[in-house]
Amino acid sequence: MGGWQAIDRKTVPANGMGPGISDASKEKIRSFFPRYPSKRAVMLPALHIAQDELGYVSLTAMRQIAELLELPPAAVMDVVTFYTAFWTHPKGEKQLMLCRSLTCELLGADKLRERIEQKLGIKDHQTTKDGKFSFMIEECLAACDHGPCLMVNEKMHKCVTPEKLDQILNDPHSDRLDQPRSDLYDAPVHNRQHHHH
Ligand code: FES
Repeated sequence: MGGWQAIDRKTVPANGMGPGISDASKEKIRSFFPRYPSKRAVMLPALHIAQDELGYVSLTAMRQIAELLELPPAAVMDVVTFYTAFWTHPKGEKQLMLCRSLTCELLGADKLRERIEQKLGIKDHQTTKDGKFSFMIEECLAACDHGPCLMVNEKMHKCVTPEKLDQILNDPHSDRLDQPRSDLYDAPVHNRQHHHH
């Protein structure tokens, strides 16, 4: 129940065409042309480039890609709706990624899926109407020793029990990383400086 109010990844926003991709992204798409047999064949890389920049593939981006690839916009839309990787609207503030691969499944991932569907009223590849959550069921998240695993944006939650899931859904900081990303990236630089005399 409640599915009717969820926004599917294919639901195109009713208001407006959304933002367009930058000239840099267009240039990047064009740079693929010599490596592919036809412009049409650059469709998937082009869509990934657009989604990397915008977080989703807006109608404006679809039109821009259609122009670049010399195709009708409907051809681009067909591909976007076919592949589950692409979204036609901004994803929720928190993106929940639940592992459904074997280890996590054996450890109870399916119960968590049901609970997420119930609590938030969304299924795989849908977004809550308030824009707070999107839900994605993924293959192995590479933390099998500590399943079931649920990622909230970039934060990995391990050994998620149903009780822990409720806490995660209620916690505004459920996506806060223990160590800020910048520190992780800085580490090798510090090392290099140490070796510099
Ligand atoms: S099986 Fe779930 S993280 Fe690998």
